[in-house]
Amino acid sequence: MPLWTGRFKKSLDKKTNDFNSSIPFDCRMAQQDIRGSVAHATMLGKQGIIDKSESDKIVASLKEIAADLECGALEIDMTAEDIHTFVEGELTKRIGDSGKRLHTARSRNDQVALDLRLYLLDQCKVLEESVKSLIEVIVNKAEENYDAVMPGYTHLQRAQPVTFGHHLLAYANMLMRDLDRLYDCKKRMAVSPLGSGALAGTTYPLDREYVAELLGLNGVSDNSLDGVSDRDYALELLSTLSIIMVHLSRFAEEIIAWCSWEFKFIELDDAFSTGSSIMPQKKNPDIAELVRGKAGRVFGDLQTLLTVMKGIPLAYNKDMQEDKEAVFDALDTVIMCLDTFAPMLETATVNRENMRNAAAKGFINATDCADYLVYKGLPFRDAYKATGMLVATCIDKGLTLETLPISEYKAVCDLFDEDVYTAIDLDECVKKRTVKGGPSPECVLAEVKAMKTKMDNWNK
Ligand code: ARG
Repeated sequence: MPLWTGRFKKSLDKKTNDFNSSIPFDCRMAQQDIRGSVAHATMLGKQGIIDKSESDKIVASLKEIAADLECGALEIDMTAEDIHTFVEGELTKRIGDSGKRLHTARSRNDQVALDLRLYLLDQCKVLEESVKSLIEVIVNKAEENYDAVMPGYTHLQRAQPVTFGHHLLAYANMLMRDLDRLYDCKKRMAVSPLGSGALAGTTYPLDREYVAELLGLNGVSDNSLDGVSDRDYALELLSTLSIIMVHLSRFAEEIIAWCSWEFKFIELDDAFSTGSSIMPQKKNPDIAELVRGKAGRVFGDLQTLLTVMKGIPLAYNKDMQEDKEAVFDALDTVIMCLDTFAPMLETATVNRENMRNAAAKGFINATDCADYLVYKGLPFRDAYKATGMLVATCIDKGLTLETLPISEYKAVCDLFDEDVYTAIDLDECVKKRTVKGGPSPECVLAEVKAMKTKMDNWNK
């Protein structure tokens, strides 16, 4: 039975009923719906809006319903219009007329706005743990590889030497900012819209702050129209989820490249790779590719909600029921991606030798060669040009800067001496990059330490 009988002479057309129903997806919010109702009923009793004895009965029964759902003794009726209808119906079934008093001074419009906030806040906790686990894996891998020299790239061309640990920590930094973004969006999410009613508040003497306090929220919304219309919190979460997927997709792309025979920088564990049905030699990085692909799906979810919300007038419109599937799908997807990515990275083996060999080719010490001349007093632009000429000579002769004879150096600039070979030595080039945030092994270890301090604070 819908909640809105009385005015209607016919029941809803069968297909239309299915079309209108949200229970197939809002059933996820059962526990949050009950929690919200417990707080609301408690407040109604405290304020004398309903009898304290009735409020106690409602609260006790709601708690039983929650427990029964949890242990499977009660199943959600999938023919109900939505989760709010189901819970209220079940309550009335159990305690009769007292149950009918629960919805006093409340509308499903403020109820659903609250439920979604509570559900997303709970899911944010799960998400945060997944982000943290991946950060931990990255930081440990970075520590293990703090001194593994690899080529750093711009335009996917070998550019300057870095360390694998440094490269990995770039992703840990991105994810740390993602965590911050989550914390920030939770601040605005943890606000109670209850008391907004359908749109125009209510005439009952509610204690809205008390409800918020019971629910562990930061406060109450300031405007009843906004309270029932606002889905910014879901949009902010979807934006944050999308940014996480931008980061994961870039990391995934690099892993895919590093696994190729062209790079061979890492090898994924068999448990996180797949084979081909026809090519017996294949070992494919499907998991990383799926993560890269699922980024598109999450961006689509953000786009869905932006488009649903765009241009709808105040206050509640049924369009807004479309908010849930998008944000649920994005949450599920991102949590799954993070939880698969972390062990895939943790179990990957790193081929330091191949990284180093790649770093030895491509003249990635050319900037260091130019810097050598700058330290000897030459203006950088002249030093750059002289080094460019040396690189051209090396290419002509099939040599590297390390194997080019000193006579060739001196022919280009008489400031060159034998010590240039130390200056352009790969390990030296990395070791010298000690500016804060740099790739030197020393800096990587300092960055790892700083990360671990932040991680220690998570547990406090
Ligand atoms: N299932 C609805 C939703 O998710 C609940 C709110 C219904 N409100 C209404 N006025 N029909 O948005």
